[in-house]
Amino acid sequence: MSETADFEVSRRAVLAGSAASVGLTVVPTMAEGQAPMARKPPTMAVSFKVNEKAQALMVDTRTTLLDALRDHLGLMGTKKGCDHGQCGACTVIVNGTRINSCLSLAVMHEGDAVTTIEGLGTPEDLHPMQAAFVKHDGFQCGYCTPGQICSAVAVLEEIRAGIPSHVQEDVGGAPEMTVLEMRERMSGNICRCGAYSNIAEAMAEVAGVKLAETHGAEIEA
Ligand code: FES
Ligand code: FES
Repeated sequence: MSETADFEVSRRAVLAGSAASVGLTVVPTMAEGQAPMARKPPTMAVSFKVNEKAQALMVDTRTTLLDALRDHLGLMGTKKGCDHGQCGACTVIVNGTRINSCLSLAVMHEGDAVTTIEGLGTPEDLHPMQAAFVKHDGFQCGYCTPGQICSAVAVLEEIRAGIPSHVQEDVGGAPEMTVLEMRERMSGNICRCGAYSNIAEAMAEVAGVKLAETHGAEIEA
């Protein structure tokens, strides 16, 4: 057999083999003229407390905590910015720790206690951090603000609890309640309106730290 004939045979064999394997894949799942069967997404029950209220949900296992709060419970205060863990707009407090709720599946929170901006205070009875944000103009469009406030509340607790950060001079020692420390810990909360200085002022007031005239420096109250 010539080289050309060899090539023809092997080309035919390859084409026949491909057709057979395609047939094997398709035939068992789809009869002729029939639409492919839609698979139901897997669901799972989850129970947790949100703002002190017990909640029981049946969710698609891929539902994030953010979507469970907004779409299942109607708590629209928590915002979806990037949905990729990069902006902090979706920050909520879970068992005392702030998290990006867009990066966490709802079904991972069985038995947890979740606090959203709605659970911190009410328009008539603001949380001290909410009141300080209003006083210091810590927002402009307000989209990032629920996440900023939840984060700010948790940041002060982190520092008080002695949880270290990258800007501590001595990572072995207790962190100090300074503006630098607070700013560093808030770096995951992005504000496109650039309200950072006013947010820092609001946090400093709640923390009892006075801002000095020099930007970024501070003195104890
Ligand atoms: Fe979650 Fe941006 S929406 S970090
Ligand atoms: Fe507009 Fe922060 S106030 S993004």
